[in-house]
Amino acid sequence: MRRVGVLTSGGDAPGMNACIRAVVRTTLGMGLQAIGVRRGFQGCIDAEFEDLDDRSVGGIIQRGGTILQTARCLEFETTKGQQEALRNLNRYDVDGLVVIGGEGSMKGALALQRRGVPVVGIPASIDNDVWGTDMALGVDTALNTALGAIDKIKDTASSHQRAFVIEVMGRHSGYLALMSALAGGAEVILIPEVDTPLEQVVDNIEDAYVRGKTHSIIVVAEGAKYPGAEVASYLQAREDECGFKVRTVILGHIQRGGSPSAYDRILGSRLGAAAAHQLAEASSDVMMGISDGKVKAIPLEEVAENARTVDLTYMELADSLER
Ligand code: F6P
Repeated sequence: MRRVGVLTSGGDAPGMNACIRAVVRTTLGMGLQAIGVRRGFQGCIDAEFEDLDDRSVGGIIQRGGTILQTARCLEFETTKGQQEALRNLNRYDVDGLVVIGGEGSMKGALALQRRGVPVVGIPASIDNDVWGTDMALGVDTALNTALGAIDKIKDTASSHQRAFVIEVMGRHSGYLALMSALAGGAEVILIPEVDTPLEQVVDNIEDAYVRGKTHSIIVVAEGAKYPGAEVASYLQAREDECGFKVRTVILGHIQRGGSPSAYDRILGSRLGAAAAHQLAEASSDVMMGISDGKVKAIPLEEVAENARTVDLTYMELADSLER
C-alpha cells in the first residue's frame, strides 16, 4: 500500500471532516500518501483526485459538512460507472480507499472491493441505520440539533397552549425521531417501524389536554406512514377533539449541518485512524464500527446485507414516562 484514497459519500454528516483529518494524518504518519476524492463515487468516475497533506486538513475538525464534498451517485450503481471508477483509481495509482458514508455507500464500497480494490468503510449517517455499529458519525450532533429545536418549540407551544407536529429526518429509520422524542419528553412518537393510526394520535392529544398539559408535542419521522404535513392537517381538522390548536414544523436539513459535537469529533478521529491502519495492514474489506465503546472491524458483506433497526424498548420507555 502506497497511496490511500479517501472519499465521503451519500448524505453529509457532522464529524465527516474530523474523520477525513484522521484518515489523512494517520496515513501520512505511516509514511504513505493520501489522496482526496471529491464528490464521493462520482469523483471516482470523473477522476476528481487531489493530493492531501497535513495542512490540507488543518482547521476542519470543528466544521460541519465535508471538505471533500459528497454526492448520491446513481451512475456508480451501473457496471459502466464502476468500471470507470476502477480505471481512474488504477490510473492515479490509488492502492486502497476509505469510504465514509451511510448504508448505500457501504454497498458501493463492497462493489469496489468485489472488483479487487482494498476498501475500508466508516459509517456516517444521521439516520443511524448502518449495520454493525452502535453509532454512525453525525448521529449525536443531529440528535442534539433536533432536540434543541424540540425544546424551543415546546416553549412557544406551552405559552400558547398548542400542539406541535415536528417532523425530523429519517427516510427509513425512526432512530432520530424516537431518541429526540424520548429526550425531549414528547407526547406522541410516529416512526416507520410502528403503525400508529391517526385516530389514536387524536386520542393521545385529547388525553394530554384533559390531564392538564399545556402543550402536546408530536414527533414524526420523515419516513413514518403519514408525513408531518399530513399528520398536522388531519389534526387541524379535529382541533375541537384535540383541545389544542395545531401547528407544524419540518426541521429538514438543519439537522445535517452544524459543528460536530465532541462525541462525533472523537468518533470520527477514532474510526478514521483505525481505518487508515487497517488499510495499511492490508486487512481491508471491512467497515470500522463502534461496539460497547470499542472500535471493531465488521466484514463489508455483513454490513451490506443487513440494516440496523431501532430498539423499540425506547418506545415503551417513552410511553411509560408520558404522564
Ligand atoms: O442522510 C440521511 C438523510 O438525511 C435522510 O434522513 C433523509 O431522508 C435524506 O438523507 C435526505 O437526502 P437528500 O439530502 O439527498 O434529500
